[in-house]
Amino acid sequence: MIFNSDHPLANQTAIVTGASSGIGKACAIALGRAGANVIVNYAGNSRGAEEAVAEIEAAGGKGLPFKADVSRKSEVDVMFKAVVDTFGTVDILVNNAGLQKDAPFVEMSLDDWNYVLSVNLTGQFLCAQAAAREFIRRGRRPEVSVALGKIICMSSVHELIPWAGHVNYAASKGGVMLFMKSIAQELGEKGIRVNSIAPGAIKTPINRMAWETPEAERDLLRLIPYGRVGETADIGNVTVWLASDQSDYIHGQTIVVDGGMALYPGFRDNG
Ligand code: BGC
Repeated sequence: MIFNSDHPLANQTAIVTGASSGIGKACAIALGRAGANVIVNYAGNSRGAEEAVAEIEAAGGKGLPFKADVSRKSEVDVMFKAVVDTFGTVDILVNNAGLQKDAPFVEMSLDDWNYVLSVNLTGQFLCAQAAAREFIRRGRRPEVSVALGKIICMSSVHELIPWAGHVNYAASKGGVMLFMKSIAQELGEKGIRVNSIAPGAIKTPINRMAWETPEAERDLLRLIPYGRVGETADIGNVTVWLASDQSDYIHGQTIVVDGGMALYPGFRDNG
């Protein structure tokens, strides 16, 4: 195949879940600029999804907003069918949809535990399974990619770093780590490439309180050796690369994109 460095994902179709804001929105826009058709999945924020589609189309790409709750199999199935009907197939899944429902452990409700696990972990299971089935049904297209398909799971530094007050979230991301590695081990022989990205603190609505005021940002920066809070484009750029054949020999890995947060900077002058 001829590698198109401006549009490394030309003639491929990507689904990005939870793409109406934050990291998902940036990934959708970056994939669209890289030449992919992008399904901008959202659960409630149709305006955000339409903004992402508008940006993709302004850059000459194709985008489709699609409402579906990733924790419900019936909605995931309808979304994959619509994508195949519209674009013929799916080549890339960015399993991004995720949320936080924080509470001290002794106060955390079972509903908030189940809610976070169902979106952050079961949602990744349902979408990855639907994507893998579609990759296998469609078969190889060497003219667009070496791989049969690519799955990128959005994890977090909290797949590694325990997080008091957020045990549902940390447990979901710890689950994503071995979910990703286990399906990578199982699907690799079919040509399906599976990896994760583990963002650190990225400026998005999910953690607004941690960077919104100068005092909060100063505290947060103590956890980031590289000295800046991340931007959503930091994750969008890595996502494009991980979806492209440029990273074809990377399989079953978590790429940590965190300015060094996972280096335990509390130990710089301690321990
Ligand atoms: C969380 C953010 C947090 C970051 C670093 C992310 O996974 O969603 O709220 O700022 O990890 O702690």
